[in-house]
Amino acid sequence: MSFDRVAWIYDQLAGLVFGSQWGQVQQAPVGNLAGKSRVLIVGGGTGLLLDALRDVEKIVFLELSEKMITRSRNRGSHLQVDYVHADFFEWETSEKFDAIVMPFFLDCFGTEKLEWAILKTRTHLTENGELHVIDFQPASWWKNSLIRVMYLFFRLFSSLEGKALLKIDGAIQNTQFRQKSQTFFCDKWIFYSVYQPNRIT
Ligand SMILES: C[S@@+](CC[C@H](N)C(=O)[O-])C[C@H]1O[C@@H](n2cnc3c(N)ncnc32)[C@H](O)[C@@H]1O
Repeated sequence: MSFDRVAWIYDQLAGLVFGSQWGQVQQAPVGNLAGKSRVLIVGGGTGLLLDALRDVEKIVFLELSEKMITRSRNRGSHLQVDYVHADFFEWETSEKFDAIVMPFFLDCFGTEKLEWAILKTRTHLTENGELHVIDFQPASWWKNSLIRVMYLFFRLFSSLEGKALLKIDGAIQNTQFRQKSQTFFCDKWIFYSVYQPNRIT
C-alpha cells in the first residue's frame, strides 16, 4: 500500500467529499490531547491535525508515505514533531505514549491487520494511555455507497489493503479496550472515540 500517488491531491479530495466539516473532523482530538506528554500519530497523512494541536510535549508522527510526510512537514507546524517514515506493523520502539491517534488509519486494513494494529497499539501505550480513533462507521445507503466508491478509488490508486469498511469500534472494544467517550460527525457517518486498555486482573 502506498499513498504517495494521492498525497498531492488528498486534502482537495477530502474537501470535496466532506466540505468544511473536514477540518473539524480532523481536529476532533485537539481538546483531549492538550496537556499530554507524549503523543503518537499513526498514518497522520498530510498532518491537518497538527495545525490545531497545543500543549503537547512530544509528538511522533509515523507515516508509511514519504510524500504525505513531506506535505505535513511543509505545513510548517509550530510544534516540535518527530517524523518517522515507517510501517507501523514493523516499527519497534521501547517508548510508551500517553495517547495514540489513528485518524482514518484502521479503515485501510482487512480483519486480520485491523486486530493486529489494535493489539500493537496496546503495547505502545502507558498504563493510563488512550487510543484516539477517528473513522467511518456504516450509515445510510448512499453514504455506504460513497464508502464503496472510496475503497475502489484507494484500492486502484494506493493499493489499499482493505476491501470494505469493517466495524472498527466493535473490533477495538473486542480487543481489550473500553470506550471512554464517543462523538459523531456528518450525521453519525464518522465517529471520534477515545479508548483505554482494560485492566488485566
Ligand atoms: C486513509 S489515509 C488517512 C490520512 C489522514 N490521517 C486523514 O485522516 O486523512 C491513511 C494513511 O495511513 C498511512 N498508512 C497506511 N498504512 C500504514 C502503515 N502500515 N504504517 C504507517 N502508515 C500507514 C497512509 O500512508 C495514509 O497516509
